[in-house]
Amino acid sequence: MKNEKSVMNKINYKLQKNIGDNVKSDALVLGLFKDNKFDFSEVDSITNSIISEMISSKDLSSENGKIEIIHTPKKIFKSSNFSKIFIVGLGNPESADNNSVRSAFANLGRLSISNKINNISFLSDSVINYDANFHNFTLSAFEGFFLGRYKFEKYKSNIEEEKEDTNIFIISSKNEGKIKSVVEKSIITATAEMKAKSLVNEPANTLSPTELSNYSKKLANSKIHCKILEEDECKKLGMNAFLGVGQGSVEPSKLIHLSYKPKKNEDSVWFIGKAIMFDSGGLSLKPSGSMLSMKGDMGGSASVISAIEAIANLNLDINIEALCLATENMPSGSAQRPSDVVKAMDGTYIEIENTDAEGRLTLADAVTYAKKMNAKAIIDVATLTGAAAIGLGRGNISGFSNDEKLMKSVIDAGLETGDSVWELPLDSISKKQNNSLIADIKNTGGRNAGTITAAHFIHHFVKDTPWVHLDIAANMMTLSDDRWHNKGATGIPTRLLIELANKLQK
Ligand code: BES
Ligand code: MN
Ligand code: ZN
Repeated sequence: MKNEKSVMNKINYKLQKNIGDNVKSDALVLGLFKDNKFDFSEVDSITNSIISEMISSKDLSSENGKIEIIHTPKKIFKSSNFSKIFIVGLGNPESADNNSVRSAFANLGRLSISNKINNISFLSDSVINYDANFHNFTLSAFEGFFLGRYKFEKYKSNIEEEKEDTNIFIISSKNEGKIKSVVEKSIITATAEMKAKSLVNEPANTLSPTELSNYSKKLANSKIHCKILEEDECKKLGMNAFLGVGQGSVEPSKLIHLSYKPKKNEDSVWFIGKAIMFDSGGLSLKPSGSMLSMKGDMGGSASVISAIEAIANLNLDINIEALCLATENMPSGSAQRPSDVVKAMDGTYIEIENTDAEGRLTLADAVTYAKKMNAKAIIDVATLTGAAAIGLGRGNISGFSNDEKLMKSVIDAGLETGDSVWELPLDSISKKQNNSLIADIKNTGGRNAGTITAAHFIHHFVKDTPWVHLDIAANMMTLSDDRWHNKGATGIPTRLLIELANKLQK
């Protein structure tokens, strides 16, 4: 891959007690709730009281997500170091939640980028409602700000190579220790989701299975171990469902296995990410319009790889392993044919009815591998079916499970991170649609309930290991700016997975 630097700038933060302490900041950020109760006298002292005046004359909107800019040039406001003040509308304090705050601050992030502001101060006491959920509120605000600033412009020649760091200054008179830890966490979670976005945005000619395995190897350190299995080793393990998908591609397939195991002698929760680096459909070729977004068919792997890195950085007290069976689904003389039969790692014979239903084939061998390694739970994340968008639209992730408690933890984690997961049934009627005339199972189940039959297929291999399947086909990209996601890859559900690991600790 090209230089990483141009993809993501570094985020630095500093805590300070008073507005006047810092001289290098270009803008000041204030939060404004409906029926403001916050005392802005400190800001008034450097701005000839314009803030309080504008609030009392109702010239400032507190509507959620709306941002007012006040220009404060030094010529006029001699005691102010800032050339701009941003007032972020936070709406009604009673109805403000993680999502409304994250969205509002993403708007600020976008605005700060278009105004070329990289050094920015937050009057955090005006944003944070200390009586409410301090941790989540602060986390969401900073996550939103960082995510709103995300851009992927590494292939634009006219953008200078090294972007400036993002420097934030947090002005707060209280709770220093608490603010520090939550800001550090927000940098880790937002950075993880942005790394996932960049992996998805990266085209398939520069992010092959080999490049994804190289990327993963670079994550190895004292906490994270990385193991790569080559095709011949996968062959020995009997992973023919996986290898069949890649046999039409000139790119060698790779099994990528990352582990973070702070707890000795304990089994792990496994995150499995679909890693089809490009999905042409294979011989069951996709029409060109549908193929265009298929560099993103590795969105599941992008999120699990980024999540495990963050989980290790946060030193969470839980064993997590991330597994990605990376390959490319291409048509060629050596490609798998519709009607072929392959023997999966667990011995199941699969009839390939459609080579475009390739993700579930790789997941079949992935879950078998995880089960062999004593997975105590499996979460798989996959851009699996176009039908997911038909069923639940782009605002929801389709979830499936054989374990009520685990499903609930996933849904709850998503409620906190703003990733809506909606559970769909594994009913016995749609299960029959996967029955094959000549083999144990086939890889498609017809037109009806396409998202459910795909989930049933994975369930066949998972059996009774506690498991949640997240079909993110509808969510891995957004066609326009949406809340805290900028147009392009979303990196979903990276933050959800981090929060899930947090919940499953102990
Ligand atoms: N990668 C696709 C699913 C997809 C579609 C992801 C749109 C993101 C956006 C998957 O491999 C696929 O092709 N699924 C087929 C399954 C069908 C052949 C049973 C589909 O959804 O059409
Ligand atoms: Mn496909
Ligand atoms: Zn696919």
